[in-house]
Amino acid sequence: MKSALVTGASSGIGEATARRLDRDGWRVLLVARRADRLEALAAALHDAHALPLDLTAPDAPARAAAAVEERLGRLDLLVNNAGSAWRAAFGDPDGGYENVRRTMELNFDAVLRLTEALLPVLRRSAPSAIVNVGSVSGRVALPRSGAYSASKFALAGWSEALHLEERAHRVHVGLVQPGFVATEGFPQTDLTGRAATRWMVSTPERVAEAVLDAGPGGRAERWVPRPYAALWPLRVAAPALWRRVSGGMRR
Ligand SMILES: NC(=O)c1ccc[n+]([C@@H]2O[C@H](COP(=O)([O-])OP(=O)(O)OC[C@H]3O[C@@H](n4cnc5c(N)ncnc54)[C@H](OP(=O)(O)O)[C@@H]3O)[C@@H](O)[C@H]2O)c1
Repeated sequence: MKSALVTGASSGIGEATARRLDRDGWRVLLVARRADRLEALAAALHDAHALPLDLTAPDAPARAAAAVEERLGRLDLLVNNAGSAWRAAFGDPDGGYENVRRTMELNFDAVLRLTEALLPVLRRSAPSAIVNVGSVSGRVALPRSGAYSASKFALAGWSEALHLEERAHRVHVGLVQPGFVATEGFPQTDLTGRAATRWMVSTPERVAEAVLDAGPGGRAERWVPRPYAALWPLRVAAPALWRRVSGGMRR
């Protein structure tokens, strides 16, 4: 039986991914802080275990590695999905270095720490895969999301290098780049509230499909929805136009 560890499984994209893997017969280890949510989800799935953890805690990687050995015995897929955004401009009272630090701690440092701890079992279980959930904000930046963009740009760069490095060990590394997705942490109510912009918002289930494409399916990078992939070349080819358009966005 194939085994996966999904972080941020207590809501949104992580929960949808765990449900999607369950449908395909995977055994899943569910990681997030809210134990009640994880236990309720584990009870609803066929073969899942809750592992309540704060991924920024010093002992989180070791505890996750121990649980993988104990509960799964192997690891075919690691989904690094847990993440958050605290939106503010850098010059705002709550938007300075401390905001960047806490965002990097969760969205970047915690991903590397967990991956480092699980790489031995992933290599041992090869062919296996790692999927990092980035963001469109990891390729283009908007006002008030500098901390978030910094963390996701960093994640994209590191993921690309890891993809090349781990080929030799048959550990595939895929990057999923969602656009706007309505979830608890990212409700997107400003977009879903207006008919003119509602179409821009995707669902956690669609991102979960992309996670499967980027993991077991072997894609290196997958955007959700796919047309968002055009934003990045636009940013590179027409930077002045991009700055004019994006500078006016206040999200
Ligand atoms: N929704 C969007 O529009 C969007 C767009 C692009 C990228 N993304 C990315 O998608 C990923 C999932 O976000 P989502 O939209 O599904 O939001 P969400 O519903 O708020 O889910 C975030 C998950 O991360 C977990 N988490 C947060 N802090 C944690 C910590 N310290 N330790 C362990 N788990 C922690 C949360 O669980 P607990 O609170 O129980 O710990 C929750 O399960 C994130 O990386 C986000 O950056 C989202």
